[in-house]
Amino acid sequence: MCGIFGCILRNREAAPIIHAALKRLEYRGYDSVGELTIHKGRFYIKKDQGKIDEVHRVHNLDDLPGNIGIGHTRWATHGAPLEVNAHPHVDCRGSIAVVHNGIIENFAELKLELESRGHVFKSRTDTEIIAHLIEENSKVDSSLGLVKATLEAVKKLEGSYSIAVVSTHEPSKIVCARHESPLVIGINEDAIYCASDIPAFLHLTNRVVTVEDGELVVISRKGFEISKIADSSVVTRKPKLIEWTPEMAVKQGYPHFMLKEIYEQPACLRNTLRLQEHYLDLMATFLDRAREVFLVACGTSYHACLAASYMFSKLAFLATYPVIASEFPEQHGKSVNIDSTILAVSQSGETADTLASVNCARERAATVLGLTNAIGSTLTRVSRVYIGQQSGPEIGVAATKTFTSQLSVLSQLALRLAKKRGKVSQDEMDYLAENLEMLPDTVETIIQDQEEKVKEIAKKYKSAKTFFFLGRGSSAATAYEGSLKLMEIAYVPSIAYPAGESKHGPISLVEPGFPVVFVCPRDGTHKTLVGNIMEMKARGASVIAVIEKDDEEIKKLADDYIEVPKGIPEVLSPIPYVIPLQLLAYHMAVERGHNPDTPRNLAKSVTVK
Ligand code: AGP
Repeated sequence: MCGIFGCILRNREAAPIIHAALKRLEYRGYDSVGELTIHKGRFYIKKDQGKIDEVHRVHNLDDLPGNIGIGHTRWATHGAPLEVNAHPHVDCRGSIAVVHNGIIENFAELKLELESRGHVFKSRTDTEIIAHLIEENSKVDSSLGLVKATLEAVKKLEGSYSIAVVSTHEPSKIVCARHESPLVIGINEDAIYCASDIPAFLHLTNRVVTVEDGELVVISRKGFEISKIADSSVVTRKPKLIEWTPEMAVKQGYPHFMLKEIYEQPACLRNTLRLQEHYLDLMATFLDRAREVFLVACGTSYHACLAASYMFSKLAFLATYPVIASEFPEQHGKSVNIDSTILAVSQSGETADTLASVNCARERAATVLGLTNAIGSTLTRVSRVYIGQQSGPEIGVAATKTFTSQLSVLSQLALRLAKKRGKVSQDEMDYLAENLEMLPDTVETIIQDQEEKVKEIAKKYKSAKTFFFLGRGSSAATAYEGSLKLMEIAYVPSIAYPAGESKHGPISLVEPGFPVVFVCPRDGTHKTLVGNIMEMKARGASVIAVIEKDDEEIKKLADDYIEVPKGIPEVLSPIPYVIPLQLLAYHMAVERGHNPDTPRNLAKSVTVK
């Protein structure tokens, strides 16, 4: 999630304001930064890869003339975190500049078209095409002006964006537009600001206007004008007063980053549905050709691998070996070879055990593929092909949105592999692809409809000493993840295992009131799972079931239940069915007085052995 900022000041230099605002957007995570001001009809640009303080030490980000400017913190999605890919990006003539947060899905075809008209691109970003599109529009019709040229440009964009555009030809205005990515305007007596998020200017003003999807805004010293991109109809909207502390603002009003990131999952899942086809196909080709495939990761990422092994097998008839990374060298270090392929999954891309497994495999000439949330991380540098899952930075130590995004990418890979291998009919492909497209809305519904219910359950069981989490099939992976979350942030000892294992020992722990969480999608495992629930009930367990809506059979058996919308295909079920478990762990931690964002004894990415 990049951070954009822009400001027009009456009688102050813009650069220090931009610098300070970008510092307040640091929490969004980034790998490069850039600023631009306009002075006497000229652009002044400073940008580089690295943290703001480092770039400031080298370039002095306060030293650009002019009282109008834009700035950007970049979280790499297209193009490595290098100076050339840092924003702002300009057109061929260097007279139009853009900063952008989001993902332009159709950037490749637009780029080809612009190159065929003679445009020359400097970066590998999707963003740069916006500057050239605006330039091309002005070239085609010089009477357009910056606002109309930008309007015509954004009408051609597919994907998510919030942008701020300036021009040396019209140096007194900033043109912004939004589709999905957040955009807000801040107003005070002698200045007007635009930004990805309120924290950027909350220390300067709390008079805020939220820009809605499909709107274009022109800000100038006269104020702001909002109009609809679709029909240019004018929108009037009064500023609201925001009573947030800077700390609250960073969390956008959520009490914790973890809850904010749980609520961000629908948007993140939509991002995963916009990944570049080329890389998904390329990775599917490598998996298709592999003699053996190891899915290697740690913690939550390992649970994504476990769920993926069911998807690859059920959809593409590909047997894969999910392996806990810290065990890989011991377990497979000797057998892995040139015909082996490792798909390493790591949201940070820096987890030592996962990288050690990758090195172990590389030493034996195996092919390494990577799935990560951190473009530019070590994993991206050691992978033959990698996919950036585009969840944006995850501040809470407990992985939530990165888990469901990993599952979405892995299920898309399994679908492509199935298609390549002709293992699923076109109808089934379409059915699964449609359901994947619907998942962001499904997850939104679960969070909105079920959070209160989960809160009550957390309150009811907050003093429980231990929990079991059980599931069958790919729901076993969901159960493992639910258990890890509860241990990680609520410090409740918890055991997860495939439900069929109960009778082989663990059931002896069950006594009256012992809480057992069952993950029960209505799929091929449902019937046997009902048997497992009755086994537990027979020993007095308190059963908490995550069920499909209106599953009356299990409702009768369970002490408490949380419902998930109907019709989720089994292989996709870990994505929606894990949401109630994330919420349960979160509310259990809050009920027990713990801060879910900073669990004891844990860091966000474990880089030491
Ligand atoms: C999950 O909530 C934990 N933070 C932890 O288990 C994490 O998943 C694990 O350390 C792997 O991290 P990675 O995905 O960055 O490699």
